Amino acid sequence: MDVDKKDSIASDSSDQVVNPWEVSAKDGGKIDYDKLIDQFGCQRLDASLIDRVQRLTSRQPHVFLRRGVFFAHRDFNEVLDAYERGDKFYLYTGRGPSSEALHLGHLIPFMFTKYLQEAFKVPLVIQLTDDEKCMWKNLSVEESQRLARENAKDIIACGFDVTKTFIFSDFDYVGGAFYKNMVKVAKCVTLNKAMGIFGFSGEDHIGKLSFPPVQACLSVPAVPSFPSSFPHLFPGKDKLRCLIPCAIDQDPYFRMTRDVAPRLGYSKPALIESSFFPALQASGENGKMSASDPNSAIYVTDTAKEIKNKINRYAFSGGQDSIEKHREIGANLEVDIPVKYLSFFLDDDTELEHIKKEYGEGRMLTGEVKKRLTEVLTEMVERHRMARAAVTDEMVDAFMAVRPLPSMFE
Ligand code: TRP
Repeated sequence: MDVDKKDSIASDSSDQVVNPWEVSAKDGGKIDYDKLIDQFGCQRLDASLIDRVQRLTSRQPHVFLRRGVFFAHRDFNEVLDAYERGDKFYLYTGRGPSSEALHLGHLIPFMFTKYLQEAFKVPLVIQLTDDEKCMWKNLSVEESQRLARENAKDIIACGFDVTKTFIFSDFDYVGGAFYKNMVKVAKCVTLNKAMGIFGFSGEDHIGKLSFPPVQACLSVPAVPSFPSSFPHLFPGKDKLRCLIPCAIDQDPYFRMTRDVAPRLGYSKPALIESSFFPALQASGENGKMSASDPNSAIYVTDTAKEIKNKINRYAFSGGQDSIEKHREIGANLEVDIPVKYLSFFLDDDTELEHIKKEYGEGRMLTGEVKKRLTEVLTEMVERHRMARAAVTDEMVDAFMAVRPLPSMFE
């Protein structure tokens, strides 16, 4: 069996647990991302790779690259090697449609994928795993499908190019070539392995566990990594490489995919992985925003007033208790959420550095930093709201139509 050691699937032995269903650190503390890279066996995305992206695309690298939001990868260097030789690749990302409204954390992979699509001029497939959420979240089939379409509108609002983008929902698209790949993958994964990677128990319903529904968790996220799953897009291009931008909690799916790919005669997908966007109340970086606690996150549907209130009331501050003390020792930037959020969304490097210096040395107060963050996020959410309002049902149908994309590499 040809198994790359780095892609083998070890069970989580350390204090922090990161997988598609759970993100938790020891004693509720910070996720140790360096340790996670070791634990998972992925590679750090270093400055030389980011320079390379700049050279190859002739544009400034995205703020998420410059600030280390996307911080880990698997074989991204190989994808760039091939690109340099003139071999393109395709992008694949996805969303499990579990809620009506997306929060800012949900937008991160899509904002980044849009940049990659534009910068490298490559096609993109976006998977909506309505089947996954139907089985995991106790949603009905119909409700999951409705949420998938609603979420597709938010995704389209991020600005994807319809001539290069295919969005599909599992309930609608699975079949044909895609289903054949699902079966091939499923035959490579034993029940023991599935239980080991994903921690199933005997009490889980067979929808999660047995074949065929096990695909929804195991082989379905794997299959879009193989170009032959999309005969209308990539006929005869079985060697085309796939690059997957995602949050690092999705890594177990793709470790499994990379593990089985060579056995099926496919290339391993490459990955570019982000850290988590922290909850408003988080001191530091623990966890990700929770969809179940509305005050832990800013939603794309929040009004300007709600955004302002949430930031003022809930955003964890690294500032000192009294003004005197703050002026004297300055803010603790390591735990400060407004600064953290600005480092994700304030594009201007000079302004961010200025804020960090002034705030860190006590000349700027928490209130001022929160005010700037409120402006940045309000503008972003407002822009998204307008873009989403302009997305019609016909546009959703156009993105989701099974069709060739003749100019997808131009
Ligand atoms: N499993 C992901 C979720 O629950 C959705 C998903 C499917 C995905 N395929 C993906 C995410 C590829 C990133 C990349 O949200």
